[in-house]
Formats: sequence, structure tokens, C-alpha cells
Amino acid sequence: MTKVKIYGAGSIGNHLSNAARSKGWDVTLCDIDSAALERTRNEIYPARYGAFDEEIELVHCDDAPKGGFDYIFIGTPPDSHVPLALEVVKEKPKAILVEKPFATPDLKGCQELFDQCKANGIECFVGYDHAVAASTVKFAEIAKDIKDVKTLDVFFREHWQGIFNAHPWLDGPADTYLGYWTRGGGALGEHSHALNLWQYIAQVVGAGKITEVVATMDYVKDGKAEFDRLALLNVKTENGLVGSVVQDVVTKPTLKSMRLQGVDEALEWQCVPSPYSDKLRIIGEEVKEKIFEKTRPDDFITELNHLEDVLAGGKLSPISIEAGLDTMLVIAAAHLSAQTGEKVTINYAAGYVPEALSTESGSGALKQAAA
Ligand SMILES: NC(=O)c1ccc[n+]([C@@H]2O[C@H](COP(=O)([O-])OP(=O)(O)OC[C@H]3O[C@@H](n4cnc5c(N)ncnc54)[C@H](O)[C@@H]3O)[C@@H](O)[C@H]2O)c1
Repeated sequence: MTKVKIYGAGSIGNHLSNAARSKGWDVTLCDIDSAALERTRNEIYPARYGAFDEEIELVHCDDAPKGGFDYIFIGTPPDSHVPLALEVVKEKPKAILVEKPFATPDLKGCQELFDQCKANGIECFVGYDHAVAASTVKFAEIAKDIKDVKTLDVFFREHWQGIFNAHPWLDGPADTYLGYWTRGGGALGEHSHALNLWQYIAQVVGAGKITEVVATMDYVKDGKAEFDRLALLNVKTENGLVGSVVQDVVTKPTLKSMRLQGVDEALEWQCVPSPYSDKLRIIGEEVKEKIFEKTRPDDFITELNHLEDVLAGGKLSPISIEAGLDTMLVIAAAHLSAQTGEKVTINYAAGYVPEALSTESGSGALKQAAA
């Protein structure tokens, strides 16, 4: 039987546990906080899925078994992702799934982790589940045939009250990584699904990687917290595609959309909250609409099916470690651009390190900590 260990018994840890159990996998779910394990058993899992699944082994991280797992998932706050992943590489699972955003904007440990995974032959993925949804697979399939793409825009604009509603034990942003852009929170980290989708579709249409970023961020201080509530990115790829990515934590009702414009045709994608579904509009001489009905658990079951497919067939994955770290480079570039007021250029040959980013004046390293 496939065995998985999941770090973090919070919101995503419960989703991933449920998805793995739906596939009949053996699940060990661990956390450094005993209260989180209790909440999983008594509140989160029963509220979402009807009843706790007693087959899930809930353990404190100190007591969690090491070795013998096919998959290890890291569903903890972003500032613990890379340090934990570097530890679990030593257990040599077949694959690791690291939640989004993959790391912190200082890119600490990113290149080391990338090298370790390659050296040990471990497949590593990032949790951008929208990139493997059936609707996105279809979008990508059609996008390949759009000639002469003019522009691409992706917006994930969603007030984060929904996240706090799902975490009633938190008083607000200052209580969690969400309130600190340096820890991988804020709009750009939390809603980086949008940036990741932009990068994926740009690759699909042959535009290549993002090499130039100009960003404006609306940073706010709220008590101890300091985060970007709005991130506006203008980006350009190595092959000259220009477009935008907008992410925020203030918009209501939610707007999650993607639009690819060709000469006479366009493709539109939307993820709508109620009834939960993805919508695809193919705009040409006529307009065709396709609705992809789904449930929230489906998002993660689809993601795990994708992991299995990649391991079985060696097919390329839009949620590979490369995709997760490319997104981190652009996140870091966007903060640098917003903080220096300059365009930031990304040199991928330098690796997943801060030195891959440069401004024309050479000025300004990224601020290291919230004031
Ligand atoms: N893909 C998605 O759609 C999706 C959805 C929700 C969350 N996420 C991502 O998942 C991550 C966690 O978010 P969340 O909402 O589940 O947070 P959460 O606060 O609900 O849960 C995180 C849990 O991790 C535990 N933890 C912290 N450090 C740990 C460590 N070193 N070892 C083990 N456990 C540790 C905490 O005690 C907490 O219980 C974030 O990166 C977030 O962006 C992704």
C-alpha cells in the first residue's frame, strides 16, 4: 500500500490527508502542535468530511516514524518548507510535495534543496493544484494552437477573510505567516497560484520564462504584521510576451481568472466559488463555454493522481520543483522591484539564489525582515 507522511495538521494537511485516504493510501499526519492534532480529530476533519477517519495516524512530529514512505507532503507555513524538505530528503521517499509558496522571498536553501533532490533522484513537486485541474489541462491544450499570442493576464483577487474563517483560532494576520511577506505571506505569496498559472501558460505557448518584472505592491503594517495586500506585476518573458499578474487579499467577491489573447481568438478561465467550478470560454468566431464541476476535495485528489502519473510515466509536470522555484524567483524579483522602484531582470543560469536578480542600477537587496 502507498504510504504517505504529511507534515502540518492544519487546513492543507487535512485536505491532503483526505485526498490520500480517498485513494486508499496509508496516512501518517504529524504536527509540532498537539492542539492542531486535536483540532484535526475533533473539528476540521469531521466538519469537512463528515467524520474523522480513524485510519489516519495522528502523531506529534517528535514521535513520527522516519523512512519507508512513498510520499512526504509538507503542508506547514512557508518559512518551514525548505528546512523541512531538506530533512525529509534524507528519508529518501519517492516524491516530496511542498505546499505553495515553495519558500520565502529570500530564497534561502532553494538551490541546495534543488541539488539534493536531483542528487538523490527524488521527484519534488509544489502544491499549485490549479495548474493540474482538468480545466487548466484543457486550457493548455487549446492555448498551444493559438497563433501569435498578444498578451496573458492572470488575476487571483480574493479577500482573505475566508482563510481566517477556516482558522477561527487565529485572531488575524499578525498571528500567522500570512501577515508577514518575509515569511511567505501577503498577497503575492498566498495567492501565487496566479503567478504560477501565468508562468505555466507562457511556457505552453512558447513564450518561455519571465525575465523582466516591474511591480507595485501595497505594503501595510498591522501591529507586528507587515504584508502586501495588493501585488501588481507587469512581466515580460525571454521571448517577448508581455502581460500582467494581479493578486490581492482585499477583493470581494472573489475574482480568479486567466485570459490569453491571440489575434482573433481568446481563451478565458475562471474559478468560481459557488457552485464551486471552473469555467472555460473559447472565444473565436463563436463563443463556446465549458463548465468543469468539482468539489474542493477533488482539487487535491486530482493533484495526487497527477503525482502518480508523473512517477509512473516520467511526463513533464507543471507543478515540478522547477515550476515552484521559478515562481519563487519572480516573487523575489517583484518584491525587489517594488522596494527599489526599478525593473528587475532574472538570470536563470545563476540558479535559485538572490544573485539571479538584478536591477539596472545594481541597487537594493531585498529587505530581510519586517520592521
Ligand atoms: N494548495 C492550496 O490550495 C492550499 C490551501 C491551503 C493552504 N495551502 C498552503 O499550505 C501551507 C499551510 O497552510 P495552512 O492553511 O494549512 O496553515 P495552518 O496554520 O492551518 O496549518 C499549518 C500547520 O503546520 C504546523 N507546523 C508548523 N511548523 C511545523 C513543522 N516544522 N513541522 C510540522 N508541523 C508544523 C502548525 O502547527 C499548523 O498546525 C501554506 O504554505 C499555505 O499557503 C495551500
